[in-house]
Amino acid sequence: MKVFITREIPEIAFQLLKRNNIPFEYYKKGSPVPRKILLDKVNNCTALISLLTEKIDAELIDRMPDCKIIANVAVGYNNIDIEYAKKKNIIVTNTPDVLTESTADLTIALALACARRLYEGENLVRSKKFKGWKPKLLLGVEMKDKIFGILGAGRIGTAVAKRAHSFGTKIFYFDRSRHIKLEKQFNAVKVSLRTLLTKSDFVSIHLPLNKSTYHLLNDEKLKLLKNSAILLNTARGEIIDESALFKILKENRIRAAGLDVYENEPEINPLLLKLKNVVLLPHIGSATVEARNSMAELAATNVINVLKGKPPLTPVY
Ligand code: GLV
Repeated sequence: MKVFITREIPEIAFQLLKRNNIPFEYYKKGSPVPRKILLDKVNNCTALISLLTEKIDAELIDRMPDCKIIANVAVGYNNIDIEYAKKKNIIVTNTPDVLTESTADLTIALALACARRLYEGENLVRSKKFKGWKPKLLLGVEMKDKIFGILGAGRIGTAVAKRAHSFGTKIFYFDRSRHIKLEKQFNAVKVSLRTLLTKSDFVSIHLPLNKSTYHLLNDEKLKLLKNSAILLNTARGEIIDESALFKILKENRIRAAGLDVYENEPEINPLLLKLKNVVLLPHIGSATVEARNSMAELAATNVINVLKGKPPLTPVY
């Protein structure tokens, strides 16, 4: 048995593996493991604990013929070639639930940062340009009575809806299926994508990235947004066509965008950096002590279970 972990993750995972006498090795530098080293290290491993920064493709999977499980320390798993892993009878797991609250919190933080122009205000103070209270200084908008549109009513979408509802917003959601509980608890209304985009004051993305959601918000769809709209993305950057988004932000055709994820992460379109009406965060949706510890613990537990012949807790298929 040998587990390779692509980066240092919270200690709890290491403790669990040790307690179960499972030998492991991890890439010790703070940066993502270089592809060449990764290809070399996975050789002969029986389990791989990966992060969303690593591409787990057919080439890599072919390098680990003894691998039984790929445990991704993330809820999203678009970094893994799922079809190929399945073909090779490798179990793939992710870390749902444990990061839901943290990601929903961050989404609301972004919504408020955009609505109340927090970073413009912070910059004003830090650059010593704050010259005293003014009746019209950095006027924002309230959340109350606005329409909060949720794209994807899964766990995170629902947790965001709960929070947004408590701020007095009307919830619209777009999803393949109806969510009766969401409708009952938060008066949410299931609408078409077109209605959600044309009517919402806040549009928040909570969809997985796959072929059908890649550039779902393209130029044509972004043009449907209201002038007052605030677009939030804490899911995956590739769901929005970033250059089309840049255009509508630059022309002030929407109020603002709050982004935690990017199309070519970690590269950020330099044009976006120049805009005032966008809040840019470094993919920290699940970055709380609680969520990251639980994610590491869950990934390690999945590995231990599978290596001991038990079913994993959170398989993706
Ligand atoms: C983070 O983006 C995750 O998918 O867990």
